[in-house]
Amino acid sequence: MRYGIFSDIHGNLEALEAVLGAFKNEALDRIICIGDIVGYGPDPSLCIQKIKELGCKTVAGNHDWGASGKIKISNFSVYAAQSIAWTKNVISNDELNFLNSLKIEYANSDLCAVHASYEEPESFNYVYQIRDTLDSFKSMPGNVCFIGHTHIQAVFMSKAGTVVRLKQERVVIEPNIRYLFNAGSVGQPRDGINLAGFCVFDTKKKLVELRRISYNINSVKQKIRKRGLAEFLAVRLGQGR
Ligand SMILES: [Fe+2]
Repeated sequence: MRYGIFSDIHGNLEALEAVLGAFKNEALDRIICIGDIVGYGPDPSLCIQKIKELGCKTVAGNHDWGASGKIKISNFSVYAAQSIAWTKNVISNDELNFLNSLKIEYANSDLCAVHASYEEPESFNYVYQIRDTLDSFKSMPGNVCFIGHTHIQAVFMSKAGTVVRLKQERVVIEPNIRYLFNAGSVGQPRDGINLAGFCVFDTKKKLVELRRISYNINSVKQKIRKRGLAEFLAVRLGQGR
């Protein structure tokens, strides 16, 4: 089985199309979206439509449920709250219902996928450092879990109770070791590299690859300005922050 896995599209259609274009060359069996289809970006409707057309397994992100009203946005940043208010106004009722209907977790015998830390996914806790992974490793059902939310690709490995962070972009899954992969962000990477992020997981080769791909950032910046969204949301795309 070959999986294409991505997260945090954030209304960035150009980045989503670039990733889906890359997926076409990968002979994938299944695509999994780990949430935050909307928020920040200028094309929430078109991104929701793409995901619906794909019919991929999709879990809820905090922005998806924030837009649908399922969770409160009072603890969102100013930029996040403003763009969610805008998003609510421009998406259709059907699209809103789609976001509302997203489940918090996807799991099968190969992997599990949640937007944020595994142990309490509805709380949308961030996983940045080794200490943030400990409860996820204790509670995840299998050996491989994919997350997003931080917009920073990462690999954590738990072996005999010790967790380390791996720096490589290609990871071979070994028996009796648990892995937590952060797929990064399609539409708003924050590691200083302004490329869309995604993962490919080949269960036969037991190989997970963290990938990046370029997209037309200027086109997205222009749309952000045209829609009257905050200038910072355009600038950060170029900076990958
Ligand atoms: Fe996000």
